[in-house]
Amino acid sequence: MKRRAQPAFAEDPLNPIAPMSKPSPDHDIAALRQNYQSSGLRRSSLEADPVEQFRRWLQQAITADLLEPNALVLGTLNGNRPSSRTVLLKAFDQRGFVFFTNYRSRKAQEITNQPNVSMLFPWYGLERQVAILGPAERISTAESLAYFSSRPFGSRIGAWVSQQSEVIKSRQILEIKWQELKHRFANGEVPLPEAWGGFRVTPLEFEFWQGRENRLHDRFRYQRQDDGNKGQNWSIERLAP
Ligand SMILES: Cc1cc2nc3c(=O)[nH]c(=O)nc-3n(C[C@H](O)[C@H](O)[C@H](O)COP(=O)(O)O)c2cc1C
Repeated sequence: MKRRAQPAFAEDPLNPIAPMSKPSPDHDIAALRQNYQSSGLRRSSLEADPVEQFRRWLQQAITADLLEPNALVLGTLNGNRPSSRTVLLKAFDQRGFVFFTNYRSRKAQEITNQPNVSMLFPWYGLERQVAILGPAERISTAESLAYFSSRPFGSRIGAWVSQQSEVIKSRQILEIKWQELKHRFANGEVPLPEAWGGFRVTPLEFEFWQGRENRLHDRFRYQRQDDGNKGQNWSIERLAP
């Protein structure tokens, strides 16, 4: 009889001398396996424009009630050392994909030196991911201000409090500064911090990934082809899973 993989912490009935081991995350993670059931992504159903394809999938992620559907993992480079972190997508259109952050943070410094970034939207609840590559640049102060003004009071103060990515001695430092600034801006008018604003990523490449049965997933890559004065054009290719 074929034995099913058992969690490492279960007593093994077929091997009574095996000691009861402690839960082992290594073992458990290796045994985790999801068989994707989706009916897939077809070339014929893709939008010609990847921004429109992204819009469709983001809408579906929102409708499916995924947690943080606009969260993405942003990858940046410091020389040949990559780093990544989650940020929230706050706007997108034909010009690019916008997120907000501290301009003195690690990510912002890395972007200043090397503007090419990766963005990954992990929509596991839909057995999907979307990867986007392209250069990032700062948006205008006016655009940053428009978004900043729409944020709740606490978040606007928070942007002033935190010297993002700096080493700090204690949490208390943050809390004291928060109280101080809350009083300073008690009238509710919080100016845009000089070191806070948005970046826009101009996409050069997209990949849409849809999980399928037996690991035969669907992957489609769009690459931007600049077509002289006719504007943008996108090639579409299927990739092996
Ligand atoms: C769900 C989620 C959303 C986040 N959104 C943002 C964001 O929009 N902007 C941001 O600067 N940091 C955001 N963060 C925090 C970043 O992941 C990161 O810790 C911070 O930006 C500092 O990164 P850095 O030191 O690499 O620059 C978010 C974290 C999580 C988990």
